[in-house]
Amino acid sequence: MGAPRHFLDISDFDAATLNGILSQARAMKQARKGWPKGLREADEPLKGRMLALIFERPSTRTRVSFEVGMRQLGGETLVLSSNDMQLGRGETIADTARVLSRYVDAIMIRAARHSNLTELAEAATVPVINGLTNLTHPCQVMADVMTLEEHVAPLKNLTVSWVGDGNNVAASWIHAVGRLGGTLKIGTPKELAPDPQVMAWARAQGARVQVMTSPEEAVSGSHCVITDAWVSMHDTDAASRHNLLKPYQVNKRLMAAAGPDAKFMHCLPAHRGEEVTDEVMDSASSLVFDEAENRLHIQKSILLHCLGPK
Ligand code: CP
Ligand code: NVA
Repeated sequence: MGAPRHFLDISDFDAATLNGILSQARAMKQARKGWPKGLREADEPLKGRMLALIFERPSTRTRVSFEVGMRQLGGETLVLSSNDMQLGRGETIADTARVLSRYVDAIMIRAARHSNLTELAEAATVPVINGLTNLTHPCQVMADVMTLEEHVAPLKNLTVSWVGDGNNVAASWIHAVGRLGGTLKIGTPKELAPDPQVMAWARAQGARVQVMTSPEEAVSGSHCVITDAWVSMHDTDAASRHNLLKPYQVNKRLMAAAGPDAKFMHCLPAHRGEEVTDEVMDSASSLVFDEAENRLHIQKSILLHCLGPK
């Protein structure tokens, strides 16, 4: 038996593999145009396969898009909250991985700590998918790249701006630019700059990633402005983050600094009036709901990458 085909981080894959996953997602999305949402793909490529979804943190999009996507491919899902598992009473992640591998064909985890994801993947004999950790959110950024390429152009020809917290979604964006090309300008307070290890990885790749403190400078000449919550699920320092990030709100004024054609993206959930204003969220430039939809299409393609024929 070969090693399981995990989907842990964008940095684990070369451009050809990532572009293959993106183009399969586009084709599947196109093929479903006009179908009722609940319908399954006729060939049910994952018929009889079971995906376990472990949540150590809450979710709307990740849960629903994986559940619906797996069913559309003919497979089934089991949703497990870590609080209701023996994991919550101290059973190790590795033992949990070994047990679940005997029952299910793949495991998606939304992990409280990145090490929970990597320990699960090391011990599992079935593919493990990263559904967000404190450090990265690769399924989200694959959906973001798909969305931007649908609306604008291939990422390698684009300049993208990240404004706000240099968090888990920002780290996966750094990985995406490192692997697929393009320029990423990150405007963030010094205290919330991206993980130094991820930045060192970007430098070693020769990735075009620039970090600056000015949000205006970060958005100038940009094709798309992206932001995220000021306080992520694992953060405990809400008050100081609000103070540091107030000048990084994406509002009409900042979008104007980016230029008239710049798009806006946010992985959601958004905190309207904090990191983004209603006028930007609800503007014609906003791609946020296409981004949410594309979680479904890209994750179906990721599931086929992990579980499909070799
Ligand atoms: N963007 C995202 O992952 O949303 P959920 O937290 O609702 O899954
Ligand atoms: N950065 C956010 C993303 C939520 C989907 C968080 O980790 O809470």
